[in-house]
Amino acid sequence: MVKMALSVSTLMVFSLLSLAPLCFSQKSKGGYLYPQYYDHSCPQAKEIVKSVVAKAVAKETRMAASLLRLHFHDCFVKGCDGSVLLDNSSSIISEKGSNPNRNSARGFNVVDDIKSALEKECPGTVSCADALALAARDSTVLAGGPSWDVPLGRKDSKGASLSGSNNIIPAPNNTFQTILTKFKVVGLNVVDLVALSGSHTIGFSRCTSFRQRLYNQSGNGQPDYSLDQSYASQLKKNCPRSGGDQNLFFLDFVTPTKFDNFYFKNILASKGLLNSDQVLLTKSEASMELVKKYAENNELFFVQFAKSMVKMGNISPLTGSKGEIRKTCRKINNS
Ligand code: HEM
Ligand SMILES: *[C@@H]1O[C@H](CO)[C@@H](O)[C@H](O)[C@H]1NC(C)=O
Ligand SMILES: *[C@@H]1O[C@H](CO)[C@@H](O)[C@H](O)[C@H]1NC(C)=O
Ligand SMILES: *[C@@H]1O[C@H](CO)[C@@H](O)[C@H](O)[C@H]1NC(C)=O
Repeated sequence: MVKMALSVSTLMVFSLLSLAPLCFSQKSKGGYLYPQYYDHSCPQAKEIVKSVVAKAVAKETRMAASLLRLHFHDCFVKGCDGSVLLDNSSSIISEKGSNPNRNSARGFNVVDDIKSALEKECPGTVSCADALALAARDSTVLAGGPSWDVPLGRKDSKGASLSGSNNIIPAPNNTFQTILTKFKVVGLNVVDLVALSGSHTIGFSRCTSFRQRLYNQSGNGQPDYSLDQSYASQLKKNCPRSGGDQNLFFLDFVTPTKFDNFYFKNILASKGLLNSDQVLLTKSEASMELVKKYAENNELFFVQFAKSMVKMGNISPLTGSKGEIRKTCRKINNS
């Protein structure tokens, strides 16, 4: 009897302890997100987002990739607050002009369509940041990837950060350490880094994002020898030494539109397109093990991807009275 009471209370202490870090991390950001946030205020919200995304992806397959990436670029800069969606205006210097986004980030018109459909049904209720988080999930599912419940309740920012966009979003030629550090700064770890990089199982890259590997990887006129040399010759045809900066290449040349684990299999075959993809195998034991694990087991990749997307979606949201619900995703209210 005594023994049992003891074990029960021990269990309670442990479960309280295990909950504590969650409470602290969420509270310190002034509130928390949950999937049922709009269940009363806009019960149609999730369906509306899904149907607009489905139409857009039916029209152009790549849109799934573009929307997924947009959520990433939103979350890393000042948290998931819709900052990436703001256009230039008298008070805003748009993140759309940053190195990672310029001539590259896309899907803004689809976000506009989602937002106007939401405004029609539930005016002033659903934030642009939440719409984008839902669109990223729906895009993943449409491409054949995993699903997850999207925690909701984010508010939209009243500002943007061009310097944040330039400095915080990892660049394709950053070292493994720099990339991992950039993930750690926003509370993500090496498991999240490898799983979320699996997004590169869909979508495109421009020549300019990986040219360095083909011709002059380390400034000594030599290519990156960790890139399969016959794959490299193929790439060179449309990615010459100079010119063709905007030419497009599949990030996963095997199954370019299907969300699966071929991204990881390609890396094992030295056919990761970006330097930031290949270094996951070559520059860290921990990430190498993860690449191998996900290449071997698609289910494991899917489960971790979903978890890591929720984690990324929780980066410093504006909640409660912070921020606003924008009427138009491209501009702050009353401007
Ligand atoms: C780990 C660091 C990362 C780096 C260095 C990186 C870099 C890049 C680059 C250079 C491109 C091609 C852009 C262009 O040339 O126009 C790209 C595309 C893409 N990225 Fe990443 N990325 C990273 C992580 C992520 C994450 C975490 C996600 C999503 C969760 C993501 C999703 C995508 C998608 C879906 C595309 C294709 C977009 C399209 O076709 O429109 N990436 N990324
Ligand atoms: C925003 O305006 C700045 C100049 O104030 C300009 O350099 C930049 O290219 C503009 N950004 C976009 C996305 O048009
Ligand atoms: C990475 O690429 C950028 C843009 O092309 C370039 O300015 C920079 O020098 C490169 N950095 C390294 C370490 O190669
Ligand atoms: C390679 O890059 C270095 C440093 O950026 C530059 O000085 C050199 O001229 C380049 N070599 C070739 C062959 O392009």
